[in-house]
Amino acid sequence: MIEKRPLRLGVNIDHVATIRNARGGGHPDPVRAAKLAVVAGADGITAHLREDRRHISDDDITRLVSEIDLPLNLEMAATEAMLAVAIQHRPHAACLVPERRQELTTEGGLDVAGAEERLAPFIAQLASAGIRVSLFVDPKEKQVRAAHAVGAPIVELHTGAYCDAAGAMRRRELDRIRRAAALADELGLECHAGHGLSFDTVGAIAAIPNIIELNIGHFLVGEAIFGGLDSAVRRMRAMMDQARSEAYGEKSA
Ligand code: PXP
Repeated sequence: MIEKRPLRLGVNIDHVATIRNARGGGHPDPVRAAKLAVVAGADGITAHLREDRRHISDDDITRLVSEIDLPLNLEMAATEAMLAVAIQHRPHAACLVPERRQELTTEGGLDVAGAEERLAPFIAQLASAGIRVSLFVDPKEKQVRAAHAVGAPIVELHTGAYCDAAGAMRRRELDRIRRAAALADELGLECHAGHGLSFDTVGAIAAIPNIIELNIGHFLVGEAIFGGLDSAVRRMRAMMDQARSEAYGEKSA
């Protein structure tokens, strides 16, 4: 059995900025949300600075870096413009994601297997600036092996297909995530997961022992409308911890 590793929660605050930007003012402030998430039990803050700046702004990143003590995970496309932003701010980590202008959200993982020559030097530049690089990939053997080959220390497995599926399809998607996470571990990659996770779907992912970080945003911000962000983050944290303990045969508190 694998030794018990703690599971971190990265709270993604993008959609606090989506609501703010709907009216163009300063409310609600994503940095205030990040501070609240810290108090409620987040281990890190995640923000996606998109090319079209549809939610998080450059100023949000500046403020997150200066006002939040927890590690910042900057999600970004692998472009020269974003490389310059990352090197300027030096977040704890950068998660490279694919970006298509018309997409509603990050619709699939990065095709690392098809872009090794372009990604390897890009990752090396981020690493030499002291930034830990993760690659957001579909839970496929080919992509995990390619992430290892290009020198990324971390993979984040896309959980969107698992969350969107039902019944037997969901079980199949979960199995793909389990196998990809085990392979990542075997290759010495740190394994994270995220996208679309909710109270319904988080438990099975939190129980996978090879995964050590979950990044969750949209559902938490949506739940915050009904019960507040503090309560949503605390409940998610508790569900993650319970699933993790149960996976190791421990009695939950
Ligand atoms: N991880 C990555 C790499 C993402 O791009 C996103 C969405 O920005 C998330 C996690 C969080 O997804 P969600 O907002 O659906 O929880």
